[in-house]
Amino acid sequence: MMPRPIKLNVSWVGAVDWDRRLFDALIPLPDGTSYNAYLVQGSQKVALIDTVDPAMTEVLMGYLKDVPAIDYVIANHGEQDHSGSIPTVLAAYPNARLVATPKGKDVLMSLLQVPGEKFVTVNDGETLSLGDKTLEFIHAPWVHWPETMLTYLKEDGILFACDLFGSHLATTDLYVIDEGQAYEAAKRYFAEIMMPFRTSIEKHLERLKDYKLDIICPSHGPLHKKPSFIMDAYRTWVLDPPRNTVVLPYISMHGSTQRMVEYFVAALVSKGVTVKQFNLEATDLGKLAMALVDAATLVIGTPTVLVGPHPHVASAAFLANALRPRLEFISIIGSYCWGSKAVEQLTGMIPNLKAEVLEPVICKGLPGEEELKALDNLADTIAEKHKERGFV
Ligand code: FEO
Repeated sequence: MMPRPIKLNVSWVGAVDWDRRLFDALIPLPDGTSYNAYLVQGSQKVALIDTVDPAMTEVLMGYLKDVPAIDYVIANHGEQDHSGSIPTVLAAYPNARLVATPKGKDVLMSLLQVPGEKFVTVNDGETLSLGDKTLEFIHAPWVHWPETMLTYLKEDGILFACDLFGSHLATTDLYVIDEGQAYEAAKRYFAEIMMPFRTSIEKHLERLKDYKLDIICPSHGPLHKKPSFIMDAYRTWVLDPPRNTVVLPYISMHGSTQRMVEYFVAALVSKGVTVKQFNLEATDLGKLAMALVDAATLVIGTPTVLVGPHPHVASAAFLANALRPRLEFISIIGSYCWGSKAVEQLTGMIPNLKAEVLEPVICKGLPGEEELKALDNLADTIAEKHKERGFV
């Protein structure tokens, strides 16, 4: 395959991974992904921006076979899905220098054992001339790791954003064409990867207002010829108030918690609250993460297993805690037989969720009149609180 041109002397040289179904041995990738690398050929120097996952190094090297010289390899991010082919590229182009932030140098020396003398470290705002093309480096910590940076090609108005603005989507389309599909994939990606870093992203979005952006080239998924599409989506996910929605992940072993969930969902719906219900036996964790992006309330449903919450519920709670969604309220419902510390254990697992804890409803065996009344009260409280805050 030939490199795919983006602008004059700027090309996509990445790899599409149609078959990958899991990232970090955790995150589901129902639509595969891509590892985008870019070749920028200036009048005097040539730069390769990012590389590809080591499983697909040969694809990248195939694109580079007719490229006689690479002067700089720009490493926007140290994670191996972008950096993993750097050693092969440096071996093929021994005169190339590796460009990274100082923290990026530390990460790459540690993860890939690249010798220190190969590096040129760049400060925030520093530029690098390729002749008729100029790269500006924008330090952007925490999109996705602390060492991440963005690279801006001034003359062409192209932002090489690495993980920021990406999507796990395998496609032959170089650019976003189907905005509905692209929005869904980008939101899933935001939920799974970027949500914990909303505060940093807010600052980066503000800073990027000063740049003229013609094209955003992320390191996963299709490119954005209409930068406002993805930037507006990020503004919504980062800045908008949460919605009048309850996310309800749960497990039921013998039907008691299931009965509580069904009653509670009906009560919430009757009060005008949207509910996103996830049976953790069946759900894709990415769908759960997406629902958490803009929900106001999380209610966890669990039976008691050996005094604590069901392990699948504990795992989902741990993930929610790590993703730090902007929840305002949390509660727990569920059933036990002879004794339970599920509420204490679950609330201890979610210290990052700075939300008000609403009175849990835990019952012995099947829910009776008293417990159903308690579920009605919890639904009333949630509906009222959402209304008070103006969530729609
Ligand atoms: Fe796509 Fe953080 O790597």
